[in-house]
Amino acid sequence: MKKILAIALICLLTFTGAAFAETLKMGTNAVFPPYEYYDDESGEIVGIDAEVAAAICEKLGYDVEIVDMDFDALIPAVANGKIDMVLAGLTVTDERKQSVDFTISYATGVQVVIVKEDSDITSVDDLFAEGANHKIGVQQGTTGDLYCTGDIADAGLGSVEPFKSGTDAVLALTSGKVDCVVIDNEPAKNFVAANEGLKILETEYITEDYAIALAKGSELTEKINAALEELIADGTVQSIIDKYIVAE
Ligand code: ARG
Repeated sequence: MKKILAIALICLLTFTGAAFAETLKMGTNAVFPPYEYYDDESGEIVGIDAEVAAAICEKLGYDVEIVDMDFDALIPAVANGKIDMVLAGLTVTDERKQSVDFTISYATGVQVVIVKEDSDITSVDDLFAEGANHKIGVQQGTTGDLYCTGDIADAGLGSVEPFKSGTDAVLALTSGKVDCVVIDNEPAKNFVAANEGLKILETEYITEDYAIALAKGSELTEKINAALEELIADGTVQSIIDKYIVAE
């Protein structure tokens, strides 16, 4: 009798286990096309990060739930366990490494400068030039914010205006409230395409690596790294990127 009960219990656990895979909460900030944004038709969060997370979780047998939050809330949320991981076009930095663990990198980003077509800012160096005094729009808490604050505002070469989203920063640029916006290149291309009279400077500010952030010491990091390595090696990650970023 005991044996039958034990077998029944094992069957039940196996079944429920299969039907209700554990869910991983992916935190993101969905104002960052093509990495994460709301699809007009479905109203769902789509993009490179959603698909990379889905591919990883499929491999590891998890469901994914996407949680949209302010960008600067993401690192604290994963550090204190509110969410399991951050995929947000998130740049690996030494400072962030103090509070979270990062996986291997799955994409590259470049900080670029958006200006009005007739701007007198013609190269990144103009922002650091002696006597420079520009108002620079950024998304709050991003590396663009951190770099410009350190390199430009703290050096007395201008001021940094933080906005909730890149879109808001770009709106401030079109209405003349800031002189330029420093942001990641792929969202920058989207914002420039959506607004008249803007361009991206050819000179780049800095190149960076995007990776997934997890709580320090998380047991998931190793598993996710293994899955990510396979997905990079078999071309899945590149095909996701190619789906959203069409080479010009
Ligand atoms: N790569 C930049 C950073 O890590 C910007 C990321 C912004 N991502 C977003 N989903 N809004 O700071």
